[in-house]
Amino acid sequence: MFKTTVTTACTLLAAALLVGGCSDSAKDTHPQQLLSQRKAVFKQFTGALEPLGLMARERKTWDAAAFKAGALELQRLSTLPWPYFTADGNYPPTRAKPAVWDKPAEFKQAQDNYVAALAGLLTAAERGGAEAGKPAVEQVEKACKACHDSFRNAAPGG
Ligand code: HEC
Repeated sequence: MFKTTVTTACTLLAAALLVGGCSDSAKDTHPQQLLSQRKAVFKQFTGALEPLGLMARERKTWDAAAFKAGALELQRLSTLPWPYFTADGNYPPTRAKPAVWDKPAEFKQAQDNYVAALAGLLTAAERGGAEAGKPAVEQVEKACKACHDSFRNAAPGG
């Protein structure tokens, strides 16, 4: 998590100053910055999901309003990364596996599974309680992981 926070701060700083002072953005050679853009959205996925995960694990006090806000934010973000995986979007240092481009139907299915898990999260958020919320968060986390297992390489060096 420490690493994520640092990288996010780095991205924000780079965006604010409009300089390539951070290695992530400096390495993106594509004119449309496809890789940087989709990575930025995925970081927002993590940022929105994290408080819900903490609540689900009782490491943060249950807050029904914050839970619902997080679920809505995840829903808002859910369609954003995929258009950045265009045919010319497979270039280093992407962590996407070739399967993203070789198996588009399966990649789309993983997106749909994720969106379905989010629908469950929204339903649980409407009810408001931890009872329904906890398993719903678990389903969303599973959907993230399922796609990563098939379509994302492990982080360099671990
Ligand atoms: C349908 C597939 C899919 C789903 C669902 C998905 N991801 Fe990913 N994710 C990817 C792929 C592919 C990459 C690699 C992107 C690249 O490097 O080009 C990635 C990268 C990431 C990254 C790394 C960003 C970086 O800086 O390199 C994070 C963090 C992440 N995802 C978090 C999540 C979270 C959290 C969820 C669920 C809330 C999620 N993802 C759901 C496919 C998915």
